[in-house]
Amino acid sequence: MCGIVGITSNKSVTSMIINSLRKLEYRGYDSSGIATLYNGSINEVKCEGRVDTLEKNLNKTKLSGNVGIGHVRWATHGIPSTLNAHPHSSENVSVVHNGIIENSTILKKILVKKGHVFKSQTDTEVITHLITEYLKKNDLKNSIIKILQDLKGSFALGIIFKDQPDVIVGARRGSPLAVGYGPKENYLGSDSYALKSMTNKVSYLNDGEFCIIKKDNIDFFDEKGKKVNKKILELSSNENNYDKGEYKHFMAKEIDEQPITIKNCINEYIDKINNDINIFNFPWKSDDISSIVLIGCGTAYHSCLMAKYWFEQLTSLDVSVDIASEFRYRKNRFKKDALYVFVSQSGETADTYGALDLCNKNNMKTCSVVNVVESSIARDSKFVLPIHCGPEIGVASTKAFIGQMLVLYLLCIKIAKSRKDISKDIFSEKIKSLKSLSGLIKESLKTENEIQSICNSFIEAKGSMFLGRGYSFPIALEGALKLKELAYVHAEGYPAGEMKHGPLALIEDGMPVVVLAPRDKYYKKTISNMQEVIARGAKVLLITNKSKDEVYSENIWQTIEVENTSEDLFPFLVTVPLQKLAYYSALKKGYDIDKPRNLAKSVTVE
Ligand code: AGP
Repeated sequence: MCGIVGITSNKSVTSMIINSLRKLEYRGYDSSGIATLYNGSINEVKCEGRVDTLEKNLNKTKLSGNVGIGHVRWATHGIPSTLNAHPHSSENVSVVHNGIIENSTILKKILVKKGHVFKSQTDTEVITHLITEYLKKNDLKNSIIKILQDLKGSFALGIIFKDQPDVIVGARRGSPLAVGYGPKENYLGSDSYALKSMTNKVSYLNDGEFCIIKKDNIDFFDEKGKKVNKKILELSSNENNYDKGEYKHFMAKEIDEQPITIKNCINEYIDKINNDINIFNFPWKSDDISSIVLIGCGTAYHSCLMAKYWFEQLTSLDVSVDIASEFRYRKNRFKKDALYVFVSQSGETADTYGALDLCNKNNMKTCSVVNVVESSIARDSKFVLPIHCGPEIGVASTKAFIGQMLVLYLLCIKIAKSRKDISKDIFSEKIKSLKSLSGLIKESLKTENEIQSICNSFIEAKGSMFLGRGYSFPIALEGALKLKELAYVHAEGYPAGEMKHGPLALIEDGMPVVVLAPRDKYYKKTISNMQEVIARGAKVLLITNKSKDEVYSENIWQTIEVENTSEDLFPFLVTVPLQKLAYYSALKKGYDIDKPRNLAKSVTVE
């Protein structure tokens, strides 16, 4: 999960590479580096840390050159350090890499026997030595074909060569790679986002392909070296969303944007005149589908889990949910009448892509719910449902989670209606409730002050728990994940009814416990479970909805009330205070909110 950029031009490329690397930092930010070709030799500058540090180092060395590659790293093999930072260069070539070379140990042994000396602990360095070796007896193209035959694993590569003054080679297996077309210069990037400030004309490499990029020409080849033609695609431009505006952090901006993103998404999908949901060109009849399998990772998995509750409640489909990294290596019983739905904000998550690829290879009905419509998952699924929430830059997913839930809910009620699992009247009621969702989320944002005053308890405690039943359970998991990834405190999401089967032992005097109990069909049961934790000394933050009926319980530490809505839509409203809780907890601890430790926005390794 690293970021790659390459530029070949007739002018100096260093500052352009630095600008692109900044955009790629969402993919990794523990070390960074750049290599250029200048006066017939490869020069590199690398450092542990972010692109800002790299830029300071570059200013000292005055690195120049008209062809170059850059990299931001999220460590897999070897600690984050200057030595392990990419590019990895020999006298003849320099390589940046995203992914994992699974047979690097075996290859390294062979190369060491041939006299190659390794400097880093990375798997990437074998690629550098391998090409250097092949170039002794082969031309550039054949050397690339040969290394691609040798390498096992999934990867995207960018390579420059001492003897090829304006050439960058890109190669893809498993990890995505894009090329961009500019005026008298061309580009390589791990995604189009990295290239957006330079061009809106891009092509994507398919699995197994490689390309030879020169400043005035790009050739694409399959793994055997046969030329392939590529479509040039035009990217949509929405640059304004890449700006923090008046906000201190993208995350804060993205949380506050949710009423707008919900509105946009609803406008895209709801046909207000006919009171229907527009899902055009859906390739399958609803009668051809008897089950649905929802697959994702992390936050996207939580939105899948949420959707399971809706699909089970509102349709007669069999529903299952899977974590992509588990699904792809299990012995699956593929079902012809199943719809496989892949949920991913970035559309580049390696495990989710792997699961999609497996389903495609088994000729299944595949559909994706994505934010980035140019992504690999979107491109390779048979049907795409975009969430229309604009770029999400903060590593912690917020508005995309709400957007994923919304699109999955829309799909659910659309299928329910077409299968006649719900009546037209119920469908219309649900559409009506959806139309007020944006305004209700706006109200949930007002819980901010209450949240700010209580987050100290969460950051000072040894740990905390997030409890919910039914529709609130996936949200409890998501609330705990947000607090963990941003404030680095232990937090656990649990089904409220499961506490008595063991985890109650964790409850100590003063332990903060969030209980999600909107007044839905689970309300009374959840309140009973809440009393069980209060009886054992927990400090309960109850999140419920406004009601004239008092909550029947004593000793609740804090209560936050969201607006009233239909049972189905409470999950959206209770999510917002949990996002704020994580945000303000991290803020109080002074952490880097948009780039939390050990994370990356797009997880492109398994
Ligand atoms: C969310 O806050 C995460 N950082 C993470 O769990 C994320 O949702 C997961 O990696 C999946 O990403 P995707 O939606 O881009 O596939």
